[in-house]
Amino acid sequence: MSNIIDGKAFAEGLRADIASRVGKLKAEHNLTPGLAVVLVGEDPASEVYVRNKARQTVEVGMASVEHKLDAQTPESDLLALIDTLNKDDAIHGILVQLPLPKHIDESKVLDSIHYEKDVDGFHLTNVGLLSTGGDGVVPCTPLGSIMMLKDRLGSLSGKNAVVVGRSNIVGKPMAALLLAESCTVTIAHSRTQNLDEVCRSADILVAAVGRPEMIPGDWIKPGAAVIDVGINRIERDGKKKLVGDVDFASAAPVAGAITPVPGGVGPMTIACLLHNTVQQACRQHKIEMPAA
Ligand code: GUN
Repeated sequence: MSNIIDGKAFAEGLRADIASRVGKLKAEHNLTPGLAVVLVGEDPASEVYVRNKARQTVEVGMASVEHKLDAQTPESDLLALIDTLNKDDAIHGILVQLPLPKHIDESKVLDSIHYEKDVDGFHLTNVGLLSTGGDGVVPCTPLGSIMMLKDRLGSLSGKNAVVVGRSNIVGKPMAALLLAESCTVTIAHSRTQNLDEVCRSADILVAAVGRPEMIPGDWIKPGAAVIDVGINRIERDGKKKLVGDVDFASAAPVAGAITPVPGGVGPMTIACLLHNTVQQACRQHKIEMPAA
């Protein structure tokens, strides 16, 4: 088996499972899960994400609704839209695309989404459920990362896991998931001393710092599993390129398993969003998630 973890193929398999579950929800419960995506402003990267989300939602048989609001939209209008979506029975998941314009309070908006319609796992109730071992919704990028790790390694119990990065979206929930799998978890960050040594102690290394190729191969324990969450756009030799937080060229020969950029964690994120939408639709209708 190659030591490269093919996130694109894994995500395709996951979407096929989701499509099968959606088919059963329609046939057996007359339920079509619906996802609403709200985009405020015209950030080009966000527009690409939102378009891909909508396309893949429809491809697995779910309903997709998009709301595009002007960059100057007052916070109160956005909160009013979320209130309407919270009350709409055809909508089971609500995603407000981040980042939001500066004049809008991000945490206020995220917490205004009903926690049973939150598909990002950003609502404080879902954050609390994750850190106390409850069955809330889990943020998409860490969820995709843990799925790939478990698929490749089987049990993660007792392994030393190092997460580089402490963001609310990736680092902290990733650490919580690894802890729930009985790993010994270290969260490292920009102030960590001897970061190279800390990384070398990892059986599982998750890089989520947003700094292009900052982790070289000689920071990696031979045979370790490396999950690279970074998506950095750089220019090299006059060409635009997408690279991770790990220097893939020097890391791949050392790692036992490694996700490439692109084609690793990235494709899993939207697949996990679709998974979370199905999970929330089942929860709202008090039915078990059907087998794939
Ligand atoms: N912007 C970039 N990634 C994400 C994501 O996973 N969720 C939301 N809501 N916004 C994002």
